Amino acid sequence: MVKLSVRDLEVKGRRVLLRVDFNVPTEEIGGKIRVTDDTRIRESLPTIELLREKGAKVVLLAHFGRPKGQSNLKYSLRPVADHLAQMIPPPVKFSPEVIGTGAEAASKALPDGGVLLVENVRFFKEEEANDDGFAQELAKLGDVYVNDAFGAAHRAHASTAGVAKYLPQAAMGLLMERELEYLHEDLANPSRPFLVILGGSKVSDKIDVIKSLLAKADVFLIGGAMAHTFFKAKGIPTGASRVELDKVHLAEELLTLAKEKGIKFLVPIDSIEAQELKAGANSRNTPLLSPSKGISDGWQAVDIGRETIALYKTEIVPAKTIVWNGPVGVFEIPDFANGTREIAAALAESDAKTIIGGGDSVTAVKLFGYADKMTFISTGGGASLELLEGKELPGIVALTDK
Ligand code: 3PG
Repeated sequence: MVKLSVRDLEVKGRRVLLRVDFNVPTEEIGGKIRVTDDTRIRESLPTIELLREKGAKVVLLAHFGRPKGQSNLKYSLRPVADHLAQMIPPPVKFSPEVIGTGAEAASKALPDGGVLLVENVRFFKEEEANDDGFAQELAKLGDVYVNDAFGAAHRAHASTAGVAKYLPQAAMGLLMERELEYLHEDLANPSRPFLVILGGSKVSDKIDVIKSLLAKADVFLIGGAMAHTFFKAKGIPTGASRVELDKVHLAEELLTLAKEKGIKFLVPIDSIEAQELKAGANSRNTPLLSPSKGISDGWQAVDIGRETIALYKTEIVPAKTIVWNGPVGVFEIPDFANGTREIAAALAESDAKTIIGGGDSVTAVKLFGYADKMTFISTGGGASLELLEGKELPGIVALTDK
């Protein structure tokens, strides 16, 4: 169903209650908290700027961390408001109250084009409970609602879903639209070959994504610790690598399903195995030739090997659409980062539409300096995964149909 867009709204002089995802990484130095990666804030700016240009009073709702329904200064959004104030022209105000007369008065006192960020909505347990009364209180801070918090769109919370029914119009923001365009609409009818790279620690996290994309993609490249469960399913020794034993039968089923559908479903043909999971540990490239050779006893797989990188690159080169979710090795440890770096480099060089589907693969792409070479990098971790699984996101369902 097509939803109303922020572009469709008449907002001059009206208070727009804009849900954003400002759940950003921070660090504390000398008792002061500062934002260390403001990507999510930057990605929200086009919507904020559009609304300001149209003369709206912009009231921002956001969560930060998981304060479990308790007011807790450690999770205050004030440092985020300070950061935002340095990125856009004044006035950028902060309300320490989330709901109530103070917050309401602050929203009404905004001049046209003014911005107000209210304190962390998760200071109230009613937020995550999607409580109707709380949603109604939030609705008092605006005249219309816009949701641009893609990263939180898989949460059915009061500020992401419940509030929408208490305001006359509920629209998508520009970031939300872009996320859906790349992660949903484009993938419904992708340019082919359509290649999917999946990594990360657990196959159980990716089962639904694999099932959903088996109906659409042409090639799968598997890496990361989730590959170990596929090794086991293929009878390849896994040594001391982490394996989800209760998912081995499922890995077998997925391999069979891919075969039946004529889809290339590639798992690593060699691996970097290490004696310990730490920098400087003994490590070596080992072939994975079932059943005679695999990961050595007492060693664990930590990255894809040289042959696998070469094989995967031959698939990446002709691809026209590539979705990547999850690193292929323990890239946080430089000794085991080569596979993930090489995959990122291959995507950066590719002519394909490259879509990085959130989470750790985004961190990796940024770390290796390839972020600006990708077609699209999602701001959502869990949300992008759920979208790739083909699920409906409550934060989108709640919006007004066009
Ligand atoms: C995220 O960081 O993935 C989103 O902001 C959602 O946060 P949550 O997982 O705490 O709901």
